[in-house]
Amino acid sequence: MNVSIIGTGYVGLTTGVCLAYLGHKVKCLDTDARKVDLLKSGGTPIFEPYLPELIAQSSANLCFTTDYSVAIPGADVVFIAVGTPPSRDGSPDLQFVRAAAEGIGRHFDGEHMVVVNKSTVPIGSGNWVGSLVRESFAAHHNQKSDHRFSVASNPEFLREGTALHDSLYPDRVVIGSDDPRSLEVLYRLYRPLLDQTFPAPSFLPRPEALGAVPLVSTDLASAELIKYAANAFLALKISYINEIGQIAERVGANIQQVAKGIGLDARIGNRFLQAGIGWGGSCFGKDTSALVSTAAEYGLSLPIVEAARRVNRRQRDLVVDKLLAELKILKGRTIGLLGLAFKPNTDDLREAPALDIARSLVDRGCKVKAHDPVALDRFRAVHSDLGVICCAEPESVAEGADAIVLVTEWQEYRELNWQDIGERMRTRIVLDGRYALDRARLEGFGFRYLAIAG
Ligand code: UDX
Repeated sequence: MNVSIIGTGYVGLTTGVCLAYLGHKVKCLDTDARKVDLLKSGGTPIFEPYLPELIAQSSANLCFTTDYSVAIPGADVVFIAVGTPPSRDGSPDLQFVRAAAEGIGRHFDGEHMVVVNKSTVPIGSGNWVGSLVRESFAAHHNQKSDHRFSVASNPEFLREGTALHDSLYPDRVVIGSDDPRSLEVLYRLYRPLLDQTFPAPSFLPRPEALGAVPLVSTDLASAELIKYAANAFLALKISYINEIGQIAERVGANIQQVAKGIGLDARIGNRFLQAGIGWGGSCFGKDTSALVSTAAEYGLSLPIVEAARRVNRRQRDLVVDKLLAELKILKGRTIGLLGLAFKPNTDDLREAPALDIARSLVDRGCKVKAHDPVALDRFRAVHSDLGVICCAEPESVAEGADAIVLVTEWQEYRELNWQDIGERMRTRIVLDGRYALDRARLEGFGFRYLAIAG
């Protein structure tokens, strides 16, 4: 099938490359010419393991453009995967979605197209996007669009850092539309994925136990709500274990043992129960916020989802509170941060805990130094206003530091020569924000080991 992707960010590019790998003809559009030029030259504007390799393997079915008149004509399905950054009031800024819908309507010339909203927009926006496309079509073709367009929701469940794996081998595919024709088109689009009949890339082997992928084919609103409800539950699960972590610290329990003990219950499951600094990233924050604001439009409050957000915000404050309790005075101290990206294996800094932690420490008069294996350049480019000293090596972060905070559990931090790190520091205090380090080993090197919860 002929597919157009509007937006070549973390979701759009991943979706487009995977569909091209499945054999569809995919045109990816981005209005940022630098991104498109980079993609055309074989580079990628985001860090995602194996993305360059999969782009190379799919190149016969993939092209990149800044021009809607190239991307849209002839498309059977178009995915809107543009950014919806939070506005000042926290609601999503939909200007890029509007622009995408306008470009689609202006340049569509076919009989029928399914418009799929991948961008994070308030629940019920699928129809709004469809109406924008129809208005644009009517304005530029001087005719009604009658049944040329139908809208569908196809929420993504990919995790950054494992986005290609999650896209090729999903737990389920969810498609939603109030138009049966759209459901049929998307079923055909995803058939190779549902049946797992495509050859697995050598660098992304198919999980042994994976059989056919379940399809949830439902109405538009249910599909949209599935995305928000899933992300809110995952965020809630993390905040739950972090809330239990606070009790564990007071009673002298080990939160990792507690998480293991409850996670072995098949009804709970052991994933997303890793206590620590809590969640960042562009999804959990935006999706839980969108869910709360959509509920408010109906006069509803969502105390559980709101509580998950409150608990998560507090986790970042706990880092500073613990450093203050340990160092007594923060003003003039040198604090090192290991990790800036919101999680390992990505360069994404959106809503990363490191940003709030750094800001809070600088506001208290600390000298803050930071390292990240992948996100450092992006941090320099976007967050230079924070006044953080960027270090090319973790060892430089340790030089003269009064304390080090492990913010992001990059594997390379586990493998550091912590004896050497300790020798470089003014005082050997480490706050392990992700329970990623070997406490006994570091204490053997003379470290005072702190964690978020005990
Ligand atoms: C998430 C959802 O998992 C995915 O389904 C959705 O499509 C997009 O949002 P992502 O944000 O990329 O994916 O990463 P994820 O692995 O979910 O981690 C999100 C945050 O939660 C990270 O900051 C991570 O450090 C944190 N986290 C995750 C925990 O603090 N504890 C955990 O046990 C798991």
